[in-house]
Amino acid sequence: MHLLDAMTREGFEEVIAIHDRDSGMRGWIAIHDTSEGPAFGGVRRYEYRSEAESMMDCLRLARAMTHKCRLAELPAGGAKAVLLDEPGVDWPAAYAALGRIVERMGGRFYTGPDVGTGEAELEVLAAHTRFSTDPGPAGPGELEQSTAEGVFRGIGAALHYLDGGLDWSTQRIVVQGLGAVGMELARRLMAHGAKVAGSDIDPERLEWAVQELGIEGLDPNEVLSSPCDVLAPCAMGGLLHDLSLEKLRTRVVAGAANNVLARTLHGDRLHARGVLHVPDFVLNSGALIRGTIFHLEGRREPVSAIGERVARMVTSVLEEAGRTQAPPTRVARRMAERRLAERRASR
Ligand code: NAI
Repeated sequence: MHLLDAMTREGFEEVIAIHDRDSGMRGWIAIHDTSEGPAFGGVRRYEYRSEAESMMDCLRLARAMTHKCRLAELPAGGAKAVLLDEPGVDWPAAYAALGRIVERMGGRFYTGPDVGTGEAELEVLAAHTRFSTDPGPAGPGELEQSTAEGVFRGIGAALHYLDGGLDWSTQRIVVQGLGAVGMELARRLMAHGAKVAGSDIDPERLEWAVQELGIEGLDPNEVLSSPCDVLAPCAMGGLLHDLSLEKLRTRVVAGAANNVLARTLHGDRLHARGVLHVPDFVLNSGALIRGTIFHLEGRREPVSAIGERVARMVTSVLEEAGRTQAPPTRVARRMAERRLAERRASR
């Protein structure tokens, strides 16, 4: 993997390799684009199989953040921080060190939650930089709710696009991953009368969700092949690849998990099989919208307004996909790239 070539190809501005001697923390910060405003992206802490994999993930996620910003027409661009979850790291000290690095970047990069970075880690970060999400009352708040509302309203927009109307009571939705977003999504779907089934690799979490919401519990291995109207991936990315695609028995794939397609060509295959895939970077931008507006405009955008905004984006992407008969992921990327090129050219 040639980092500089990859940066040139994808239009990256800066990639920082991090090693903190005291805590043992190692990772990356990738700044994809600041042509429209500061770059936003959370901190992912994950057990990667290799250094190269961690770097690739960081680049991929940062670029997806730029796409999200352009589609949502936010005065911001994309970035990401990735930390390697390795044995022996002193994590509180690691997040403090990361906070100092982010602070030194002076507001060019704003960071926040992602997989592996929850409330405890954000508290440490926020104590060391002004440019991170404060999980307490001083912060934007309701981030998972914003994401879940966007996913919920976006699923509604996709079903409306397909069926010409929407009756939740006839829809069976399978939610994979009942974490912060998956639970909020399942709660909304149940409240609107949909039939909801869910799974989580954490059996206690699954049991709790079944008790709390009254959803049907599914074995994690049954998720892909369970017949449904919508499969909503809300766990990790990379779910849809050559083998898993064959198992699907759904009309729509639409969820919060970033990069659910192992490769873009898997979106093409879904399209060819008549499965509507709503791009994750369109659906899951609720928290980004809430955080960006909070940091840059100093106000808290209502969760319902965020949901409406995401639903409008989904409809415009699907209508364009329908007009051009192209897979929605390619259409959404093209729309984002076109807007990005226009903005860069006008500056
Ligand atoms: P989370 O960590 O709270 O929840 C993820 C859940 O998925 C956990 O309960 C975990 O046990 C479960 N899980 C992991 N692998 C699984 C598998 N193979 N099968 C079933 N369950 C599995 O994460 P959160 O915040 O709910 O985010 C979910 C996804 O949405 C992530 O991919 C995240 O990157 C993405 N996302 C989240 C946003 C947010 O506002 N939290 C914003 C944008 C994207």
